[in-house]
Amino acid sequence: MTLRRRLLLAGAAVLVITGLAFGLVALVQRQYVLAQLDARVTSLVGDTKTLVAVANKAEDGNPAAVSLLSEAYVGVLRADGRLRTVMAPVGDPQLAPRLLGNERDAGPVTRGTTGGAAERVRVEVAPLGGQRYVVVAISMAPVEQATARLAVALGLAWALVALAAILVGHWVDRHGLRPIARLTEAATGVTASGGRTPVQVAVSDPATEAGQLGQAFNTMVATAAAGQEQLRRFVADAGHELRTPLTTLQGYSALYAAGGLVDEDAIADAMRRINAEASRMNRIVADLLDLTSLGDPSTLSIHPVNLSTVAEDLAIDLRVREPQRSVTVTTKGDCVVLADEDRLRQALTALIENAVKYSPAGSPIQLQAIRAEAQVRVLVSDSGRGIPQSELPKVFDRFYRVATAGPSGSGLGLAIVAAILSAHGGTCGVESVPGSGSTFWVLLRAATSE
Ligand SMILES: Nc1ncnc2c1ncn2[C@@H]1O[C@H](COP(=O)(O)OP(=O)(O)O)[C@@H](O)[C@H]1O
Ligand SMILES: [Mg+2]
Repeated sequence: MTLRRRLLLAGAAVLVITGLAFGLVALVQRQYVLAQLDARVTSLVGDTKTLVAVANKAEDGNPAAVSLLSEAYVGVLRADGRLRTVMAPVGDPQLAPRLLGNERDAGPVTRGTTGGAAERVRVEVAPLGGQRYVVVAISMAPVEQATARLAVALGLAWALVALAAILVGHWVDRHGLRPIARLTEAATGVTASGGRTPVQVAVSDPATEAGQLGQAFNTMVATAAAGQEQLRRFVADAGHELRTPLTTLQGYSALYAAGGLVDEDAIADAMRRINAEASRMNRIVADLLDLTSLGDPSTLSIHPVNLSTVAEDLAIDLRVREPQRSVTVTTKGDCVVLADEDRLRQALTALIENAVKYSPAGSPIQLQAIRAEAQVRVLVSDSGRGIPQSELPKVFDRFYRVATAGPSGSGLGLAIVAAILSAHGGTCGVESVPGSGSTFWVLLRAATSE
């Protein structure tokens, strides 16, 4: 059952129950007032002597006695069945009850009238002795008026409850149910488009649960769409990058098939180039695989790693590989971080490789591991060509290479560095002065407090 139908049923139930409760109140109140009227009738009937005396005095014209019984009709029913009025109420002098003959000793009953203004009366008939009966009747008009007034008041109260229920229902529908219906529609739309259309829903009130759901939905759809777009670009870029070496391989095999490679030297040269291109493809594929697995921080094996030691280690390797360069290491403070050591080495090695690749042979390279408050920063500085200011924001993008970078390289190195740092909850960046050198840095939270 839908929430809307449930709310509708609950509202209807509330209205029916309040209606019944109000009806019950009216009924109980009517019974109570009627019981009071009956008590008055019965007490008058029981006091026959007074009645007769009052009747006699009333006939004598005693106004005090008349006012005492001003509301009651008193009559005497004779053995022949004729009713003689002894006294009528002051306000309704013509009043006479319509007796059916079965009222004797029956207690107070409701009867119509044969005269007077009142339409219905409460009557009690009791023996007076000598086959005579006293008949006392009191108009029911006050009881009926009181009941009617109460019924009107309760009816109005019920209408107010109904109005409140309708307003609450409308409010809940507007702020709770309609946004959910819109959300369902939007979600269906997104599914129908295969997730390609990032449909957004209008969020009317972010303070409501429905509003928050709408916001969460919008964020989710936008994130999913961005992820899809990223994936699409990734595949396009990867395809584009792999096509170049493939074209070269195809070119050499076609050349060979056409008999274009005639002597030993030409074949050896072709083989060398084929091998170089295959290695390049291999590197690209390995880097791509790295990039995809790096997106998942759960693949990291996290341990305390001292980045001063790692920097010194990497410097030793670099000195062996590049003996003509001056490689300096500066460390400051406690540089232990919680990280996957292999991955961090991979990132720093990529930065060092770039420093080597994009600076003249023999120029100095500087490594620094520096503790600053709760963070550890590792810097790799070279005195190379630097990077133009306009290119700086893009160098960490996948496959991005500065136009003057030269032929070797896939443009994935810095993207891998950025992915490794982001998987560790760290950051990386670069400062560069074209013509005089670049400093790449990575920043991680320190494992210990200082
Ligand atoms: N130390 C550096 N000095 C100058 N340019 C650099 C340096 N490091 C990276 N770059 C530039 O950033 C680009 C992206 O680097 P990277 O992602 O490692 O790709 P690749 O080295 O394969 O070209 C490089 O092509 C180069 O133009
Ligand atoms: Mg590189």
